[in-house]
Amino acid sequence: MTAAPEKPETDGNVLVDVEDVAVHFPIKRGVVLDRTVGHVYAVDGVSLRIERGETYGLVGESGCGKSTLGRAVLRLEKPTAGRVVFDGVDLSGMKGEPLRRMRRRMQMVFQDPLSSLDPRQSVQSLLVEGMRAHGLATDPAATDRKLRELLSAVGLPSTSLRKYPHEFSGGQRQRIGIARALSVGPELVVADEPVSALDVSVQAQVLNLLEDLQEEFGLTYLVIAHDLAVVRHIADRVGVMYLGGIVEESTSDDLYAEPLHPYSKALLSAVPVPDPVVEDTREQILLSGDLPSPADPPSGCRFHTRCPWRQPSRCDTERPALRELKPGHRVACHYAEEIRDGRIQPHEVVAQAVDPTDFGDRDLTSAG
Ligand SMILES: Nc1ncnc2c1ncn2[C@@H]1O[C@H](COP(=O)(O)OP(=O)(O)OP(=O)(O)O)[C@@H](O)[C@H]1O
Ligand code: SF4
Ligand SMILES: [Mg+2]
Repeated sequence: MTAAPEKPETDGNVLVDVEDVAVHFPIKRGVVLDRTVGHVYAVDGVSLRIERGETYGLVGESGCGKSTLGRAVLRLEKPTAGRVVFDGVDLSGMKGEPLRRMRRRMQMVFQDPLSSLDPRQSVQSLLVEGMRAHGLATDPAATDRKLRELLSAVGLPSTSLRKYPHEFSGGQRQRIGIARALSVGPELVVADEPVSALDVSVQAQVLNLLEDLQEEFGLTYLVIAHDLAVVRHIADRVGVMYLGGIVEESTSDDLYAEPLHPYSKALLSAVPVPDPVVEDTREQILLSGDLPSPADPPSGCRFHTRCPWRQPSRCDTERPALRELKPGHRVACHYAEEIRDGRIQPHEVVAQAVDPTDFGDRDLTSAG
């Protein structure tokens, strides 16, 4: 029996409420690393809600803070600012036993099943470990039944129990990783790049399995992927991340039909279209320059150094808030309406060099 949650602080349909969360990592220097010379602003002012039973997809380039945000949701990373409310309970001040009990309800599936599964443990031992830790493996017969059910749910034979991770293919190992996450009966599963280490032919099978399991066990998912196709396949709603912030959020269908933020437009324009006629006429928006360092993010709109629609002064000085352009579709761009209606046109962007040694520190209290 888990501790009764306090009075819910959010509406009953919301399972995860991320409120203005920031995760800043100090950059240490000096012989004993005693001097903080700057911060990596990995996540910097993110607010989002995930409803029960829904799949929220998080996309963005490598290093934009997706995994850090996922870890903050599970409270594996303590936010520098803001809070995460899970099923009405604020996790920010939680620690020790109450936090450990809460963790049973939220589990993670990792990108690389080979490195996340201990090679010396049999599948049985891998699956039972978490159940034991949460006092769920007290009756041997019931545990054995539960393990067989779990394996069958992820499409593996019960003979797998005696085998070791190296005896399986990549896709099968990811099935074991999923079974392990489900062994403790979670409500939320954070899947961080769950198929990016797998062959393309196996990716769809694992994504379909995740969808089936969601239905069977009533799960809520946060799926993190740099691959837009993965998110499109599985997500009900999508958040596009750029340098520690969400720049656009909408239903998956809406986003793919009409991306409104210049960064999402560029991301989506890089995805090939299966129809050759459309593909030939497809307009690609090439992003010039690298992702700036999250240790020294650009002022104003974080995307202004690469944005083909950048306008003088405001884009460089004022950070745009996420605002609703149409129901359920939020965009963080000062000029989203003008861009949508073609009232301002894209121009060429001159790439700016990024100095990786410049940590240009800011005051931590000014996050967001
Ligand atoms: N523990 C840490 N200490 C210091 N910096 C960190 C730490 N974890 C992540 N970072 C930095 O924070 C930024 C965001 O990292 P994160 O892993 O969240 O990105 P990501 O979007 O998941 O990238 P990828 O697609 O490559 O997995 C990166 O610059 C990374 O180097
Ligand atoms: S606010 Fe300005 S720089 Fe940022 S995305 Fe919009 S037009 Fe581009
Ligand atoms: Mg990551």
